Amino acid sequence: KEPKDDGPRGAALASLSCMTVEQPGCPPVKVSSHHTVLVRLPHTPGLPPEPHPRVYTDVWHSQCVKMPCSPQNLYCTAPKSDVVPRWNVITEALSKPITSISELQEAILSYNTRYRGKWKFHGLYALVNQFDECEEQELFGTTLPKMCRLALRLPELITAPVPLLSQNSQASLTLSQLQIACLLANAFFCTFPRRNARGSNSEYANYPDINFNRLLSKKEPLVLEKLKCILNYFRRVTSNEPTGLVTLCRTQAPDSDMHRWQSCSSPLPRLHCHHDTLIEDVPGLLHVDFANKFLGGGVLGFGCVQEEIKFLLCPELLVSRLVTEALDKNEALVIIGVEQFNKGAGYGSSFTFSGSFHDSTQRDSFGRRLTQLVAIDALHFRQRPREQYEKPLLLRELNKAYAGFRPLSGSIGPAVAVATGNWGCGAFRGDPHLKALLQIASCAAAGRDIAYFTFHDSDFKHRLSDLHDFLTRRSVTAGALVQCLCLYGVQRKELASKDLFKFVYESFSSSGPASPARTTLETDAGVSA
Ligand code: AR6
Repeated sequence: KEPKDDGPRGAALASLSCMTVEQPGCPPVKVSSHHTVLVRLPHTPGLPPEPHPRVYTDVWHSQCVKMPCSPQNLYCTAPKSDVVPRWNVITEALSKPITSISELQEAILSYNTRYRGKWKFHGLYALVNQFDECEEQELFGTTLPKMCRLALRLPELITAPVPLLSQNSQASLTLSQLQIACLLANAFFCTFPRRNARGSNSEYANYPDINFNRLLSKKEPLVLEKLKCILNYFRRVTSNEPTGLVTLCRTQAPDSDMHRWQSCSSPLPRLHCHHDTLIEDVPGLLHVDFANKFLGGGVLGFGCVQEEIKFLLCPELLVSRLVTEALDKNEALVIIGVEQFNKGAGYGSSFTFSGSFHDSTQRDSFGRRLTQLVAIDALHFRQRPREQYEKPLLLRELNKAYAGFRPLSGSIGPAVAVATGNWGCGAFRGDPHLKALLQIASCAAAGRDIAYFTFHDSDFKHRLSDLHDFLTRRSVTAGALVQCLCLYGVQRKELASKDLFKFVYESFSSSGPASPARTTLETDAGVSA
């Protein structure tokens, strides 16, 4: 047998549509009833964006982030003492010199007195214990004081109410990288009201954590690596203020039924496949975040797989946790323009911070880096992996992937290719064979090509691209492929071999599942599929 060539397979990466300055393949930054922009437009890339409006406007209601600096954020420092604006307490605490972790802990607890005795910042103590004199001096002499000042600029930097991107709202938010840094500095110092406990009845029960208290408290080696990433990010943004913008878009797809999927006549997308490249290594494509419905998953705790690592390398992504309600079954979040600040090595518990990353990705005409990340949460098959082949669950995953891959309305230029891999097949225990084919069908319906990275599995790369070649040579449509997957789900129990790819080959070797009528997935919505 000839040894197989172990390079990339399928379409050349360079031939796939990718983001360019003129045609970024995403919507512009434009104020509308669905799109809140926290800076003055037009914004000239390279110059510091100006907050908009000029003066702080306060709101305190359920559709916006309750800001730490709101005059309505009231605080009682001790039983029977007067109620005061909590921002005054925060300002006082963060304006004093902080020369040790115990002073930092004391400062944070002064406006979180309820957690006195509960929050113990073991992680920070452990990290500083590892520092040499120079690193300690840099933290207490430079980075922390600058972080305090940045956090306290909140009412000057974020002057408009920050909308929550709540479930089933098609809402977008654009803010500057500096505004994100300011919000995250507040998260680091645990200033966000009502965000400390996520009990089932709490106001933000359906939102991820944002205050960093959990992260600061853990002292496991992995958490110290995460803290190094976070502190490096703050060191960078406080020594050289970033000037770009970032947009978050919450998006939904109409809940298509299986009939519609099975009759989708879109041809399969072009496929590029490689085992030796990671999603994040390929600039300009729509990168998939193998997400938790609570964005960022365990990034502020012990989680450290694809999503968490991405958030650690690009900490600006953490701001999504402040505003994004848990994703519903047909929803996704697209984040445009984040910058990479950190380098990492290893995976899972062996992840380490390996230095600063200087991102040279070009910016679009709004000052956003040419990056797009789409967070889609797969189903978790921990308990019953066999269920994943059943129709309702196939449908859920098709609709979820489609929600993320469908071009955002108003996008400028062609839809860029999706860069993905074994979505839902690590922590969430899905079958990569099935998930690859479901994502191929969703890309077909969304009109995007696909770059699939098999995470060091060369054999899977060959098998997937061979099957894709076979299907495209036979002009198999997305609908016919979905029909075949449904049939496999029904017949799986009786099949002697449970090999999904073999079943697909056999199905299309003779007549195969019936060819669908010419149908697109969203005829009514007018999205071409
Ligand atoms: N590029 C390409 N493939 C990758 C990469 C990468 N950078 N990283 C991992 N893989 P997983 P899930 C492959 O477990 O199963 C998080 O806690 C690798 O084969 O991160 O969807 C989230 O917050 C890996 O096994 O995603 C969720 O709670 C597979 O992709 C949960 O995990 C799946 O990666 C999501 O779990």
